Amino acid sequence: MKHLLDTHDLSIDDIVNILDVADRMAEVNRRQVPKVPALKGKTIATVFFEDSTRTRLSFETAARRLSADVLTFLASSSSVNKGESLRDTIETLSAMGVQAFVVRHKSSGVPLQLSQWTDASVINAGDGWHQHPTQGLLDAYTITREFGTPTSLAGRTVAIVGDIKHSRVARSNIDLFTRLGARVVLVAPPSLLPSHVETWPVDVRSTMDDVIDNVDVVYLLRMQLERMQSASIPNLAEYTRLYALTPERAAVLQDHALLMHPGPMNRGVEITVDPADVAGSRILQQVTNGVSIRMAVLFTLLGGDSVSSLTAGGEA
Ligand code: CP
Repeated sequence: MKHLLDTHDLSIDDIVNILDVADRMAEVNRRQVPKVPALKGKTIATVFFEDSTRTRLSFETAARRLSADVLTFLASSSSVNKGESLRDTIETLSAMGVQAFVVRHKSSGVPLQLSQWTDASVINAGDGWHQHPTQGLLDAYTITREFGTPTSLAGRTVAIVGDIKHSRVARSNIDLFTRLGARVVLVAPPSLLPSHVETWPVDVRSTMDDVIDNVDVVYLLRMQLERMQSASIPNLAEYTRLYALTPERAAVLQDHALLMHPGPMNRGVEITVDPADVAGSRILQQVTNGVSIRMAVLFTLLGGDSVSSLTAGGEA
């Protein structure tokens, strides 16, 4: 595996292997000094053309914990603003000796295009509506570890609620969750469902109240107002009434049910209950797990010389 562009490129063995390596990384992250020499001498560039808090900082933390050098490229303060092309930007960074690019862009397909312009590995950190593979992997990791079933989600029902149409997270999660055996139920108004959703391996419901008391995971999505060409919903208050996780809906969740959200949350829109008041909330655990998953992805792609470089004796 050289690149990570799309979850569909991963076999089940690849997925299970990354989740397994993430267990090793989680063990590193629990140490007093959470740092190992596995990627010493490698240089990783985060190349973000769109805003991010979690994904960029999580990748940079992951790279540093593996002792890689990190270059941070932010389009907003770069020569892109002087007219430099995407290709010239990537070729310039490649000439500095970068071994892996972590790329976010508002247009679907940009990470794939960049992979054709560099010999380095390319990791998709979110491209348009298309894919967000490491978010999907960290979500699959979070659910499998919570339920103690490391290689399967068989028998579990995950409700993904909200703006499915514009969501790259939904696309990655649906692929990973269903291939691990889960039943996925999409809950959204018709205007926030993708066209041809009937060809997807999911069930569809039209309100939260149809599913809320009978799911193992409720996975809320952010309303992506910045990706809508025009108003996809006539009234945000009506959306909140029918689709938000309210205190009343949180109260009927099954005892073991998990609450998840990829962040950033729009409080008062898709969620009106305080997640701190929901016993099953794993929203911050998703962030913690994200570092372990991104360490696992970097280690897997960049051929960390051996698993022995992760042992306690191998601390940098
Ligand atoms: N989940 C996610 O991609 O968050 P950021 O946009 O903050 O990176």
